[in-house]
Amino acid sequence: MNQETDFIVRNADENDIPEVMEVNLRTLPENYWYGFYKFVLDKWGDLFLVAETDKKIIGYIMNRIEDARDPVLYGKENELIKEKKRSIEDIMSSFKNMFSESHKVGHVISIAVLPEYRKKGIGTALLNEAIKKMKDNYGAEAVYLEVRVSNKEAISLYKKLGFEEVRIVKEYYRDGEDAYVMVKKL
Ligand code: ACO
Ligand code: ZN
Repeated sequence: MNQETDFIVRNADENDIPEVMEVNLRTLPENYWYGFYKFVLDKWGDLFLVAETDKKIIGYIMNRIEDARDPVLYGKENELIKEKKRSIEDIMSSFKNMFSESHKVGHVISIAVLPEYRKKGIGTALLNEAIKKMKDNYGAEAVYLEVRVSNKEAISLYKKLGFEEVRIVKEYYRDGEDAYVMVKKL
């Protein structure tokens, strides 16, 4: 393959699901059944995007919109920055947050690009387009995701786009690996 890959980013439709599933199976150990893709597509189709070249799907991103009451998920708190001991006021304010109004946030469920098409800006294009729509179409305040702590490529993509690690979830993955939760405020 030559250096330049012309690709487009477009909305997925139902006919794309089998090909998206193939990309997912080739790239990630976290796999889903057809019905899950269909559900996400029916509910948040505007946020379900594919990258295509010569009519072939080479990457995808799927997302959902959630109501978050957890301040870490809407970008208000970072558990990995160890400040002074939490004061009574902080604890009261977290407690109050749990009962306060929820905040609209985008959640990146899964993003992947086929190995032979990586490092060409496709992941960046998929994520940027999805984030823009989370903001424009839903008024999302933040976007968050989980990523394996060992996934250097993905973590550097997220950092480049302004995400920060805000939490570690121990043994998040089935094989026992921990996840970072990463958040970007919009
Ligand atoms: N080494 C270091 N940094 C990298 C690498 C790498 N191999 N690949 C990407 N990056 C970083 C760089 O900062 C890069 O910017 P630069 O090109 O200016 O250096 C930035 O990411 C953007 O790279 P893109 O070309 O836009 O990303 P790409 O199209 O390669 O896709 C992706 C990145 C989706 C993470 C790809 O590597 C992939 O499919 N990996 C396997 C699946 C996966 O791990 N998905 C994420 C799981 S977590 C989740 O889904 C929420
Ligand atoms: Zn998730």
